[in-house]
Amino acid sequence: MDISRGNIVYSKSREKIAVHQNCYISVENGIVNGIYDTLPEEFTALPVTDFGDSVIIPAFSDLHVHAPQYPQRGLGMDLLLADWLNTYTFPQEAKFSDMDYARAVYDAFLDDLIANGTMHAVFGTIHRQSVEYLAGQMEKRGFRALIGKVNMDMNSPDYLCETAGESVRETEEFLADCAGNQYAKPIITPRFAPTCSKKLLDGLGKLAAKYGVGLQTHLVESKWEAAEAKRLFPDCSCDTEIYEKAGLMDHGPVVAAHFIFPSEEDIRILKKYDGCAVHCPDATVNVIAGITPVSALAKQGMNLALGSDIAGGHLPGTYTQAARAVQFSKLKWFYEGNDNEVVTFANAFYMATKEGGSLFGNVGSLEPGYVFDALVIRDFSDPFRRITPAETVERFCYTGTAADITARFMNGRRL
Ligand code: GUN
Ligand code: FE
Repeated sequence: MDISRGNIVYSKSREKIAVHQNCYISVENGIVNGIYDTLPEEFTALPVTDFGDSVIIPAFSDLHVHAPQYPQRGLGMDLLLADWLNTYTFPQEAKFSDMDYARAVYDAFLDDLIANGTMHAVFGTIHRQSVEYLAGQMEKRGFRALIGKVNMDMNSPDYLCETAGESVRETEEFLADCAGNQYAKPIITPRFAPTCSKKLLDGLGKLAAKYGVGLQTHLVESKWEAAEAKRLFPDCSCDTEIYEKAGLMDHGPVVAAHFIFPSEEDIRILKKYDGCAVHCPDATVNVIAGITPVSALAKQGMNLALGSDIAGGHLPGTYTQAARAVQFSKLKWFYEGNDNEVVTFANAFYMATKEGGSLFGNVGSLEPGYVFDALVIRDFSDPFRRITPAETVERFCYTGTAADITARFMNGRRL
């Protein structure tokens, strides 16, 4: 049993942040056991790690991040999606056929995610061997992930394009190799409709059924992409139906990056499979041009989460995206009104922790029974104003950096 003391803050629900000021949290075998105002008799002989005025929060979940794009973050941010992909992203991702390069980048990438308090993530890269290396490193560290080998067999440059047959074979090998993983679990990852043939998607659908795995892709992410999806798949009424028809949505979690311009049909289908729409605020203003209708989707009962979308987004911490989700919701409400009410900080923190974490099990909260993946944030009070623990969390998301995270726990183990 390990016991820490401090100000404990976590999300209870979309609307409510729970605060336990100057309390104790006990952790057994990596799982939260209880939170107490005063230490129960049976624990009083045990050592306590005292974090003083600091705040203990759950680690963050990044539900959409491109590991191989890590070296290009903050570059080409004045381009829009198609030009950005062709000019920056595809040449960058092609480098991951080189395992030495892949190992160096992925080690640094994983270190930076953890430094920034992200301990659960969903992502993909095209080259099987390099993805397997990353999955192996995550598995070794106890980093929870849904990780995929990206598929693309058309409208892609020769140096980053597979045949449908090759892509399906490599994916099957990846699924088989990762099937026994405890932390880094495989997910099928067709890049997006414009780069995937029907033959490829049908092949992947068969693998989803055979291996019992889910789907991640970019879904109705831009007006251009949504129009391309309809043009290339004329027998589908919307982008989401392409994946439903291929049998990719009913065998595991469905993670839909962006979901910025969904039709009623897109929403109906994603909800039918209990899918999760991932808002990546920085990426949407950097290269996509649109803002996920978070409040409107929440009202319709959609599962939501946040993502950094490195390197469409330029920052490695999900906490920054919680602040951006609030900021950008005001623009959406101002320009569009309708159901696009302002996202509160409590809503955003929930998406970044408990709601996003739910894809990985009992993850993303500090309630008893949850995995103790946690961060200690320094008190953000200054000499001019004492602020509450919940305010410290908000101020950290707006103004903090990795340096403000003074301790990290993964599966109950201090890093
Ligand atoms: N759509 C297809 N590929 C990508 C990508 O790498 N990043 C983003 N943001 N959108 C995409
Ligand atoms: Fe993306």
